Amino acid sequence: MKKERIETGVPGLDELIGGGLLPHSLTLLTGTTGTGKTISSSQFIYSGVKEHNHPGVYVSFEEPVDNIKNNCLDFGWDFEPLERKGKIIFVRYDPFHVEDIYELIETNIKKIDAKRVVIDSISALGLYVRDVPDIRRMVFNISLLLRKLGCTSILISETLPEQHSLSRFGVEEFVTDNVIVLYYSRTGSQFSRALTVWKMRGSEHSNKLHPYRISNKGVTVYHKEEAFSKL
Ligand SMILES: Nc1ncnc2c1ncn2[C@@H]1O[C@H](COP(=O)(O)OP(=O)(O)OP(=O)(O)O)[C@@H](O)[C@H]1O
Ligand SMILES: [Mg+2]
Repeated sequence: MKKERIETGVPGLDELIGGGLLPHSLTLLTGTTGTGKTISSSQFIYSGVKEHNHPGVYVSFEEPVDNIKNNCLDFGWDFEPLERKGKIIFVRYDPFHVEDIYELIETNIKKIDAKRVVIDSISALGLYVRDVPDIRRMVFNISLLLRKLGCTSILISETLPEQHSLSRFGVEEFVTDNVIVLYYSRTGSQFSRALTVWKMRGSEHSNKLHPYRISNKGVTVYHKEEAFSKL
């Protein structure tokens, strides 16, 4: 029997991962700054409501939610009416109360019975919690909570250029089912974008590097093409 899949809403991406994400799975979306993590995750939430009637929660630790929503208007995604209908909640997390994080996530998910969740970003926790073991514990607890609540979730992690690990705290990739890596790399005088599916538990997936673009339609992955990139 074919497994049920959650379509990501990012054109070309589902083709790389066997049709979409597995329901209730946790995906780490990792890449350096400006690689389109916020845009593609907004696309996941927006298309979830518009195409599948999946309520969605977007938790932002860094960028003010009005910025995210305004930027998305350029792609034709107007979140306001969906928020008014109770289909989407954008929450800006107040980092001065780090211990409230679990309650904040759980309350908002339950409020609209969310099926899709984005946490943007796990790396930002490092700004507020200094102790790495504490952060790792938080990442682990957040992953348990999202699983318990049955959501299909994206955890964003921002990596540093030249960094060779997949995540900032070295634990994010282990507590998640799936890892998608976004690259922005230079060949000659040109920078280009490419992504790879690093792991996808329970799925056959592409192991190639595929180019993608950010345009006025959001993120589009060229799943039939391979990127030639020196990484
Ligand atoms: N309307 C647009 N058309 C084309 N490209 C755009 C548009 N808006 C943003 N971009 C591209 O998307 C990039 C920002 O994407 P996004 O905010 O999703 O990155 P990010 O990975 O979340 O970065 P950060 O880690 O800093 O939060 C910009 O640097 C720009 O290259
Ligand atoms: Mg971002």
